[in-house]
Amino acid sequence: MNLRSVLLLCLSLTVFSTAARGDGSSGKVTAEDGSPIVGAMVTFRFGSPFQERTVFSGEDGGYVVSGLPDNSDFLVRVRRIGWADIRSPQSPGDGTPLDFTMTRLTDPAEVAAQLPANHWYGLVLEQVESDFEKEQIVRQCTFCHQQGNPATRLQRSPEEWHKILSLMARMGAGLDEEIRNKVPELFNSAYDPENAIPKLTKGFDKPGFAPPPDAEVRRAVIDEFEMGGRSSMQHDMIMHPNGFAYSVDMSTDTLFRLDPSVPSGERELYPIPSSNNPLGGEGASGALPSNTDMRVGPHSLQVDQDGDVWITLAVGNQLARFDIDEKSFTLEDLPGGIFPHTLRVDDKGRVWYTITVSNHVGMYDPKSGQHEIIRIPARNLGEEVLLRMLPALMWLGQTFELDMGGGGEGSGLPMPYGIDFAPDGGVWFSQLNADRIGRIDPETFELKMIDTPFSAPRRMRFDSRGKMWIPGFSSNLISKFDPETGKFENYELPVEPLGTETPYSVNVDPATDDVWVCGTNSDTLIRYQQDIDKFTIFPLPTRVTYTRDIDFGADGSVWTSNSNAPAWQIETGVPRVIRLDVDGDTDLPMVSANP
Ligand code: HEC
Repeated sequence: MNLRSVLLLCLSLTVFSTAARGDGSSGKVTAEDGSPIVGAMVTFRFGSPFQERTVFSGEDGGYVVSGLPDNSDFLVRVRRIGWADIRSPQSPGDGTPLDFTMTRLTDPAEVAAQLPANHWYGLVLEQVESDFEKEQIVRQCTFCHQQGNPATRLQRSPEEWHKILSLMARMGAGLDEEIRNKVPELFNSAYDPENAIPKLTKGFDKPGFAPPPDAEVRRAVIDEFEMGGRSSMQHDMIMHPNGFAYSVDMSTDTLFRLDPSVPSGERELYPIPSSNNPLGGEGASGALPSNTDMRVGPHSLQVDQDGDVWITLAVGNQLARFDIDEKSFTLEDLPGGIFPHTLRVDDKGRVWYTITVSNHVGMYDPKSGQHEIIRIPARNLGEEVLLRMLPALMWLGQTFELDMGGGGEGSGLPMPYGIDFAPDGGVWFSQLNADRIGRIDPETFELKMIDTPFSAPRRMRFDSRGKMWIPGFSSNLISKFDPETGKFENYELPVEPLGTETPYSVNVDPATDDVWVCGTNSDTLIRYQQDIDKFTIFPLPTRVTYTRDIDFGADGSVWTSNSNAPAWQIETGVPRVIRLDVDGDTDLPMVSANP
């Protein structure tokens, strides 16, 4: 036997030994003429609540998925833009390869429907002439759900639009009156199928349309774990050093724990005590999504040095500490301020958090009981007065529409947002609507504010080299800020069509200093490798994947959650916690019934 036949034999052995669903599966994705389809996403769904494991087909159309549970039924889905989705129920399997034949779509409307929301939203944005108006629409209309997804890209009567815009405004999406009046005509003409579909699908029957991800991306394995139900909103999630994922369901006041190491992922649910809060929380104002049961509104979470989980309760105006062994909560009322938002725990165990509506940063030291509220400077006197009158205004807001975040100069709230620590211990935060970042001295509380040369700095993070990475939510970029020189370096996001991305958050992989960015409006996670100046875009399998934060597993996996609000706009109607294993390294804690 020559070397070539030995290699071939080995290859075929690998293929057949992984073909059974018991451990994994393999096969080919081809077109009807037998030619390979490259970059198709092949997803195996199993268990209840479900897990979905997705792999990509390679250059020859072949795919291999491993680590599937024994004796389970599967729902397999195969998708590739331009081809009809396949959904195929499968029983446990007998070891034969599982092949799929895909059919080309010929109806451009069906192709357009497969494109991520940002393609559709681009049609709206290209019609807005004024940069000022465009910025405001992006910032104000894309922070709960995607724009351009199937639920939002319908044409509607002006009356219906005004009703929707009024509801959105009462939930916090303020637009200047003039811009708001333009929305019905603007969105209706952008989403008119007569114009939209030919534009979105130009050349869809030729190679080059929606090219497959490159070989590096196709090695990735993506797991999605169903989390909560149709009324859930999994705002943020974290990876605990103990290997569990924790996530907070803001609209059902629940902390979830996921054990990703067992088949389909075991969940535990811990309801957060909400005393006797009314629906919508303390001093409830504005409208709420119709099926929410939010009384404390858990929002952001982090692990402290003892392994306890700290949570901001945004509408309960509290901090919660969850003891992971006792599985019990201790609550701490805020001494002031409205809407505790994003939190971090420093080396000394102190909890620092932004308080977004009232323009504060809070610091709570659980050891000493010290709890400070630091007032962030207003941009001008008008804003100062507005901020001080807020409690009264919020009470009025129960009856009237209140513009809490509009874009006009000086109008709207500044909104302290992301927060993180520099290596020197300095506490840095962003002010979303004020286009500023700031630093608080952790001992003296002395404040310094810096304008950002881009709009809407959202959730930022430091890398290990002391540089801060900031996503510009309405400016389609990430920026590297050097606290020593005060210089910003902007990097435009290469998501197609250019200018349609709304990066909500970044996080920096502690092992590599790679910057990971939420592709919030395009169903993607985006990696920026700063050492080689390279962006890589990882498409995520579920349509309408809206992401707000990123964390890392000890094994290097990248985690996020799909928290589109409302959840029923998500393709399957339920939120998910998502793991991206970049190199498909099978040594990861994979699902197996026989470990
Ligand atoms: C504070 C969160 C939030 C913001 C910001 C927001 N929305 Fe919404 N949006 C929602 C929720 C929640 C729903 C579902 C409402 C329902 O049906 O109860 C929704 C639904 C919609 C729908 C679909 C309505 C339907 O009939 O299904 C459209 C269209 C929409 N939003 C447009 C907008 C526009 C335009 C903006 C910017 C002005 C905006 N949204 C900003 C929360 C938000």
